[in-house]
Amino acid sequence: MINKKLIYILGALGGLLYGYDLGVISGALLFIKNDIPLTSFTEGLVVSSLLFGAIFGSGFSGPLSDRLGRRKLIFIISIIFTIGTLVATFSQSVEMLVAGRLILGFAVGGSSAIVPVYLSEMAPTHERGSLSSLNQLMITIGILLSYLINYAFTGIEGWRWMIGLGVIPSIILMIGVTFMPESPRWLLKYHGEEAARRVMKITRTKEEIEEEIHEMIEIDRLSEGTWKVLSSSWLRPILIIGCIFAMFQQIIGTNAIIYYAPTIFTEAGLGNSTAILSTVGIGSINVIVTIVAIMIIDKVNRKKLLLIGNIGMVSSLIIMSAFIHMVGLASSAWIIVGCLTTFIIFFAFTWGPVVWVMLPELFPMRARGAATGIATLCLSLGSLLVAQFFPMLTEVISIKFVFLIFAAIGVMAMLFVIKYLPETRGRSLEEIEVELRKRTKTKNA
Ligand code: BGC
Repeated sequence: MINKKLIYILGALGGLLYGYDLGVISGALLFIKNDIPLTSFTEGLVVSSLLFGAIFGSGFSGPLSDRLGRRKLIFIISIIFTIGTLVATFSQSVEMLVAGRLILGFAVGGSSAIVPVYLSEMAPTHERGSLSSLNQLMITIGILLSYLINYAFTGIEGWRWMIGLGVIPSIILMIGVTFMPESPRWLLKYHGEEAARRVMKITRTKEEIEEEIHEMIEIDRLSEGTWKVLSSSWLRPILIIGCIFAMFQQIIGTNAIIYYAPTIFTEAGLGNSTAILSTVGIGSINVIVTIVAIMIIDKVNRKKLLLIGNIGMVSSLIIMSAFIHMVGLASSAWIIVGCLTTFIIFFAFTWGPVVWVMLPELFPMRARGAATGIATLCLSLGSLLVAQFFPMLTEVISIKFVFLIFAAIGVMAMLFVIKYLPETRGRSLEEIEVELRKRTKTKNA
């Protein structure tokens, strides 16, 4: 029987590909121009086509995973990752490159919608937070790996290598998935209790199995079909909450830092190599803090973590902005490095993993795949907004004001968490569902 830890690690490989494909383009772009002529418009297209693809990928993969099963869909996604990587790697024209990135984006969106659902459904309640956050850990490792590979191939200007090496984890995922079991919640729905029990034995004790099976059957009895659940009035509020929550994770500004840190650093007066090194530093801190977060995530309430994150991120942004205002951008280089680092530390400890853990927890079994897909679609949309508008905004207004805009969004995110988000730690997915159904019924009564 397959090792329990391996299941989770393989399951989370999709996260690694997500991080890798997002991060690799910043380095590759520098050299693609030598082989394929790019205008500033087509350059933007090469970057954002992945995010466009992701919007569709997340939208489609959810409903498909409710029908085909989580495992089969992850297999299909790993094939799409491989095809997209090969098309982009061997492209001879900008059209082919954009097509490759679109295909990759489809896989990125698909895996970001389905991997958290798979991990969440495989994990027993008391470990669900830490096991689901493996997805985030893999995303951060993917980003760091892409920085390192970019760095390694810069000397030979090897952009095809940078993009192409993503094929290795895609193939490992493709093979690995054939050894992974299907999610017990999906099995219960389509293949009955015995099939679900068999898989639950790998990750749960006897008592845990009995308790969860009982709850799953109860909930299944209550539930209607996927589309009926998706369109039902009791689900609507939580679907909207999930979408706003996912979008906040992006528009609080993380990726402005992840993608544009080197540009921000050089503008603040650091040399090129110091800027690249600082970026690798931020990527490494991102991974390390995520590991610490995984260790504590099941011990602290999810909402509390999110609020701590907001306070830390907003303070970093305000301090940075105030310094730039007082002493000017050129004299603030090290304050900026310090504040961007504390921002990333707070993000990696809180909003980074917690969003991916909570999204599948918020939605009911029948529509979990589809609803998580819709929320991830909003996350990809937020990601696209930041990628498109951040550079434009810094041209129009001073960067200190851009940081203040992110700070204001951070405060709004905080109010949103306090007022609307339900707490999900320490409760089974079924208990959460029962509460959400009750919540809307009482409101409508
Ligand atoms: C976000 C990504 C981000 C990454 C940074 C993830 O949770 O969804 O957009 O690049 O964290 O670590």
